[in-house]
Amino acid sequence: NVHIVIMAGGVGSRFWPYSRNSRPKQFIDVMGVGKTLLQMTYERFLSVANKDNIIVVTNHQYADLVKEQIPDMSDNQILCEPSRRNTAPCIAYAAYKIHQKNPNAVMVVTPADHVVFQNDKFAKITQVAIDAADRSDKIVTIGIKPTRPETGYGYIQYLESEGDVKKVKTFTEKPQLELAKTFLESGDFVWNAGIFVWSTQAITDAFAEYLPDIADTFEEGNNLYYTGQEQDYINRVYPACQNISIDYGILEKSPNVYVIQGDFDWSDLGSWDSLHEIREKDEDQNVIDAESLIFNSRNNIVKSESNRLIVLDDLDGYLVGDFDDVLIVCKKNNESKFREYVARVKAEK
Ligand code: GDD
Ligand code: MG
Repeated sequence: NVHIVIMAGGVGSRFWPYSRNSRPKQFIDVMGVGKTLLQMTYERFLSVANKDNIIVVTNHQYADLVKEQIPDMSDNQILCEPSRRNTAPCIAYAAYKIHQKNPNAVMVVTPADHVVFQNDKFAKITQVAIDAADRSDKIVTIGIKPTRPETGYGYIQYLESEGDVKKVKTFTEKPQLELAKTFLESGDFVWNAGIFVWSTQAITDAFAEYLPDIADTFEEGNNLYYTGQEQDYINRVYPACQNISIDYGILEKSPNVYVIQGDFDWSDLGSWDSLHEIREKDEDQNVIDAESLIFNSRNNIVKSESNRLIVLDDLDGYLVGDFDDVLIVCKKNNESKFREYVARVKAEK
């Protein structure tokens, strides 16, 4: 009764121009291993659940990409959203649909755009979470030991206790930098990895309590799921859903949240710099995904989708990216600039 829900509807603009609206990072081979992040995510769960119980929730514009990348998946395993409403409606849709068929289901929710090393450790932790969530009201998250005051993550403070599954004292989604620094220095907090495990009973109860409008919407769909009318219903009601993440909507509010510390290496690949950190590098710390000649250059990412030869001389800490329609040369560590580039490109269109 274990069901996996892969959330693959985000845009991922911090990786622009590699990742973009028409092809977000979950659909590309960011690691340079011949598999996309979505494919790696799918494979990671094959040892956790029956493959027929793995579903992907995504925007309708990416449904074909999902089918192409996971040919094993049938149409009814791909849930299509007509518009972007963040993760709460996405999770609610999947949860109510699964619950309708299997009221004793346990559901694992995972982002499609993360990298996990040590899949075996990951599977073990996930199993502990599944056992804790099975037929209980526990909302279980996976915690990662923080290494920097990142403001894009959720921070979890938990109560010390015996055993691996700790009760959460506070959950703070995306704190301001000052607060993130305090959390980090206190040593009391872990990052929320964005992977959630719960029974469908527990999470639908939580929706009813904390996001009742969303709960009503997907509860009302109950006798349409698995019928020819499902998509019409979703297309009609989805755009009216509140646009809110599960973290703000439920995790920050529920008293039933628990955390298990993940002992596997993890990255959400939130920036070019984080990609540089985890990728294999040459002796001068360059990550190279291109036909290239490199002189006296260190700490760069060289990425090309064309067959042009890229020549670097005397460059340190840059991204040199030769994409279909964009050539970019910039400092790779200036994360906030990427948001600006994307905004400007949009504005000029
Ligand atoms: N289907 C669907 N629809 N998926 C979505 C949508 C949507 O509207 N919006 C986001 N997603 C997917 C993204 O593709 C990603 O895989 C996942 O849901 C999480 O969304 P993000 O937008 O990447 O969230 P975040 O990174 O800001 O924050 C979350 O993840 C952090 C860890 O990486 C939170 O859970 C944080 O608390 C957490 O620390
Ligand atoms: Mg993310």
